Amino acid sequence: MVKNIKPDISVNIGNLDLKNPVMVASGTFGYAEEFKGLIDLKKLGAIVTKTITVKPRPGNLPPRTCETPSGMLNSIGLENPGIGVFIREKLPFLKKLGIPVIVSIAAEDSPEEFSVLVSQLDKMAAVSAIELNISCPNLQKDKLISQDPEETFALVSGVRKLTSKCLITKMSPNVTSISEIALAAQEAGSNAVALINTLTGMSIDIYKRAPRIGSWVGGLSGPAIRPVAVKMVWEVYNKIKIPIIGMGGIMDTESAMEFIIAGATAVSVGTANFLNPKASLEIISGLRQYMADNNIANLSNITGRLQACKD
Ligand SMILES: Cc1cc2nc3c(=O)[nH]c(=O)nc-3n(C[C@H](O)[C@H](O)[C@H](O)COP(=O)(O)O)c2cc1C
Repeated sequence: MVKNIKPDISVNIGNLDLKNPVMVASGTFGYAEEFKGLIDLKKLGAIVTKTITVKPRPGNLPPRTCETPSGMLNSIGLENPGIGVFIREKLPFLKKLGIPVIVSIAAEDSPEEFSVLVSQLDKMAAVSAIELNISCPNLQKDKLISQDPEETFALVSGVRKLTSKCLITKMSPNVTSISEIALAAQEAGSNAVALINTLTGMSIDIYKRAPRIGSWVGGLSGPAIRPVAVKMVWEVYNKIKIPIIGMGGIMDTESAMEFIIAGATAVSVGTANFLNPKASLEIISGLRQYMADNNIANLSNITGRLQACKD
C-alpha cells in the first residue's frame, strides 16, 4: 500500500469552502476570543458562534450545568449580548482570524426575529454563513420550530429570500422523524443541516430531592449522546442531498470519523472543548493521519461510505 499521499481534507458546505471539515459547535466556544491563548484559532475549519438574538439575553437561572454519566446537562438559555453588541464588539476579532465565521441565530418570541437578524448579518462581509438555531431546548417553549416540518419550511423559505449567504439549519433530536424535518429544510432552500442539538434530560440530587439545574430540564450533550447522533446523521444522509454537519459527543479523531462515515461532510466539536480546548486541532491532524494510513486521497471518498458488518 502506498502511504505517502497528502490527503485532501478540504470540503464545501454550499458556497462555503473549508480547508478542513472541523468546526467548533455553537455555545461551546463563545465568540472564539475566549480561546485565543489556548489554541491556534486560524487552524480551525470554521467557527460557529454562540447563538445570538435580537436583544441581549441574561440566560436562565443558575446552576446552568451539571455533569452526568459520559456527558453534561446545560440550560444556559441563550445568554448573549444581542446582535448590536455582537456586530460592534465580537465580529471584528472573528474577522481578523481569516477563517469562515458561521453566526448562529435564534428568535425569543416570534419567527420574524430571524428575518431581522438575517437582514443585518447579510450586510456583514465578515459573516460567511448563518446557522438557524430553531432547536434550542432551553427556552421553555412548548414546541420548537424544528419539531414541525411545516414550520421549519416556512421559517427557512422566509429567510432564504433575505440572503445569498450559506444557510445552515440546526436540527433537534427531540423529534419522531429528524429526516422529515431535514427534508423540509432542504426543500425550503437551506444549504446544509447541522445535527444534533442537545437531547432534553433531567438529573436529580436525591439528598436535596431537587433538580441539579435551575430550570429543572436541560440539554444533554457529550459522549452519552454520540450513538443517537451518529444514527441520526446516517438516517438523514440517506434522505437528503445537501451536506450534513454532524455533532454530538465528538471527542477525538475516531468519534469524528464515525460521523463522516455515517454521512457527515463536516463535523462540529462541542462539549469536548470544555475538557480539552485542543480537541478540534487534534482531530484535524488525526483525520489527515487516518487518511494517509488508509491510503485515502480525498475525504469525500469515505463520506457516507458505510459498509455492511464484517466478522
Ligand atoms: C454549554 C452548551 C451551550 C450550548 N449552546 C448552544 C447554542 O447557543 N446554540 C446552539 O445551536 N447549540 C448550543 N449547544 C449545543 C451544541 O452546539 C451541540 O449541538 C451539542 O452540545 C452536541 O454536541 P456535543 O455533544 O459535542 O457537545 C450548546 C451545548 C452546550 C454543552
